[in-house]
Amino acid sequence: MRATARACANIAFIKYWGTADAELNLPLNGSLSMALAGLTTTTTVAFSAERGEDSARLNGAELVGPALDRVSRHLDRLRTLAGVRGAALVDSRASFPLGAGLASSASAFAALTLAGSVALGLRLEERELSRMARLGSGSASRSVPGGFAEWLAGGDEESFAHRLAPPEHWELWDVIALVDERPKAISSLEGHRLAPSSPFLPARLERVPSRLAQVRRAVLERDFALLAELSEEEALELHLVAMSSRPGLLYWQPGTVEVLHEVRRLRAQGLPVFFTIDAGANVHCLTPAEHRRELEERLSELSLVARLLSSPPGPGARLLEGPEPEG
Ligand code: DP6
Repeated sequence: MRATARACANIAFIKYWGTADAELNLPLNGSLSMALAGLTTTTTVAFSAERGEDSARLNGAELVGPALDRVSRHLDRLRTLAGVRGAALVDSRASFPLGAGLASSASAFAALTLAGSVALGLRLEERELSRMARLGSGSASRSVPGGFAEWLAGGDEESFAHRLAPPEHWELWDVIALVDERPKAISSLEGHRLAPSSPFLPARLERVPSRLAQVRRAVLERDFALLAELSEEEALELHLVAMSSRPGLLYWQPGTVEVLHEVRRLRAQGLPVFFTIDAGANVHCLTPAEHRRELEERLSELSLVARLLSSPPGPGARLLEGPEPEG
């Protein structure tokens, strides 16, 4: 009763912000992302009838308190589905720096869902895996199919992510400019909870469906200019809602603004690049593969950028070891 799985983090072009149901992680709007091959979590789950309590390690450090509870609650969902009892030993490793203000819950819960379900003898289809991962962390639903993925809004049964295109479809690179490596002060959980207190949320929700349809088309047709325009609009709008919540959430740091201006400057000079920002200060800068080096050079010259992490599109969650290994 043991399995190992690996899943990528993802960066959303259309973002999840606000829940229709906070228990079930049902989003107010559909979202669309690209999985990041360079940012992965690898998780082994082993169940045993003997062990009394779940325990979990992340990069060698024992999880305690709310972090362990969140993992345990997720394992409970899987145990209920499998009709199996038994405590789990979870060993998880992230390939990217934790606490760097980068979302790690997407890759973590996608890998945990796949490894946990296989270890319990479940053979879930991708759709069901994505739905289950969503219950652990909303954005994890998109890390299950990987590549370019869309997570559908809807009821519990309909809200899962599916793959729009495989990673090979479009070699876009995400060059992440790290400007603040402290763990984020305000979790996305808190952001989702506060979203309805912004007077601008209704305006956002009115605009997102047509933007999502256009972003889907931009990805399928590899229309960089359209994706650039809409992704920046989307990221700024999410932060507008966050800033105007009560209390207002200000994720940006001085380095964030420095990078935003540099991205616009570079684009005006002819370099195809656009930015997007999640619930944190670090800026994701996207560019076609052939411009990656130049973008990295330019961003590394900025005074407030500590370092860069770069990644092409990545695959969906996959099994590395288990009762029935893939392949
Ligand atoms: C800004 O999926 O991290 O990154 O369900 O509480 O784990 P939880 O929220 P999470 O929210 C993601 C917020 C975002 C946008 C996005 O990735 O869509």
